[in-house]
Amino acid sequence: MERPAPGTAATAADAEQAPQRLAVVTGGNRGVGLEVCRQLADQGVTVILTARDDKRGKDAVESIRRESNLSNIVFHQLDVQDDTSVASLVQYIENSYGKLDILVNNAAVIGVAADEEGLKALNIDTETWEQPVCSKMCSRTPMM
Ligand SMILES: NC(=O)c1ccc[n+]([C@@H]2O[C@H](COP(=O)([O-])OP(=O)(O)OC[C@H]3O[C@@H](n4cnc5c(N)ncnc54)[C@H](OP(=O)(O)O)[C@@H]3O)[C@@H](O)[C@H]2O)c1
Repeated sequence: MERPAPGTAATAADAEQAPQRLAVVTGGNRGVGLEVCRQLADQGVTVILTARDDKRGKDAVESIRRESNLSNIVFHQLDVQDDTSVASLVQYIENSYGKLDILVNNAAVIGVAADEEGLKALNIDTETWEQPVCSKMCSRTPMM
């Protein structure tokens, strides 16, 4: 497809001819991820909203379809910490689309393995130890 000359606005016909872009958003069922899904779909990008929980993910897709009247959004299960789940999503994308243009790695996982026994030995709560780390990283790390 020919690009419009610099300084020339793209027309509706240009938009229709533009190749469909595909995005995956991790942790798309709520918060920032949900809003990113909505805005990408609103821009005409085909969005795969992923969530680790089937019901929460499907409900989120339904809410975007209903409230924003958008149909270019689908659900696929993804737990970013589960290799089988990741492989299943990759297979789905390969089979159904054959490409991926945008990955929004939004799911709130810091990717640090904790030594539970070590934390306990230091008298640190294993359930909440990552929260101070997370808040420091969140203020410094860009999401995309
Ligand atoms: N909100 C802010 O002000 C802010 C500021 C800076 C950076 N951030 C970053 O932006 C991202 C989203 O923030 P948020 O406030 O929208 O967070 P949030 O409301 O806590 O949502 C986190 C999302 O990640 C999902 N998630 C957690 N573990 C997952 C896993 N193993 N696999 C797949 N999905 C998983 C959650 O799914 P469930 O519903 O199943 O738990 C949820 O959809 C985070 O990475 C955060 O660090 C946020």
